[in-house]
Amino acid sequence: MKTSTLSSIASLALGASAVPLDINNGRISLQLNIDLSQDAFAANQLADLFTFTSMHSVHATPDQVVNETTPTGGLAGASGIFNFGINSGANVICYNITLHNFQGEFESPADTATHIHEAARGVSGPPRIAFPNPEPIDEAGIVRNSVGCLTGPFATGVVMEEKDTGEGFHVSQIEQNPAAFMADTHSSLALPGAVRGQLA
Ligand SMILES: *[C@@H]1O[C@H](CO)[C@@H](O)[C@H](O)[C@H]1NC(C)=O
Ligand SMILES: *[C@@H]1O[C@H](CO)[C@@H](O)[C@H](O)[C@H]1NC(C)=O
Repeated sequence: MKTSTLSSIASLALGASAVPLDINNGRISLQLNIDLSQDAFAANQLADLFTFTSMHSVHATPDQVVNETTPTGGLAGASGIFNFGINSGANVICYNITLHNFQGEFESPADTATHIHEAARGVSGPPRIAFPNPEPIDEAGIVRNSVGCLTGPFATGVVMEEKDTGEGFHVSQIEQNPAAFMADTHSSLALPGAVRGQLA
């Protein structure tokens, strides 16, 4: 047996509560025991699946929200931490989204109100991925969280130019130019966005 240390892991471990996992600081390490002599090919495939090709931690704030190019102020007092792990080989994105002081109802023309949009700093742009809205994790509902992984093909529920804005989207596009993407969530009290942050 050979012990390999992977610098990052993806989907399956994220759902396994027994695995100590913290993507908060931008790095994950996990010890995997892989018998390379028996089936090196299968082992390599496993390593590919359990590897993030990039990780992104986004601090989302109300002041970054715009409608087209006009700052709206977002939802005062709210904030968000959007942690993403991308596996561009498998077109997988894992997410750990935490919102503080979200108010109102989640509201968006998309399937959910929590997104990655293709939009440079200071401008609006179409949603490319719709994530499950964070659910309250404390009784007062001050902190909300959603964790999981999504695999392409993606759909957002928003149709522009006769196709879904997620259609044909591949997570490698985020890695090619993270500054062209932002994460946000939308509230009935702040329709253009409650909080927003650029991926770079
Ligand atoms: C999600 O991120 C929060 C901090 O933003 C962290 O406290 C929590 O442990 C993370 N959850 C998982 C499953 O990584
Ligand atoms: C953005 O601004 C335009 C023009 O003022 C307005 O018609 C539209 O409703 C606004 N969008 C949102 C989501 O508030």
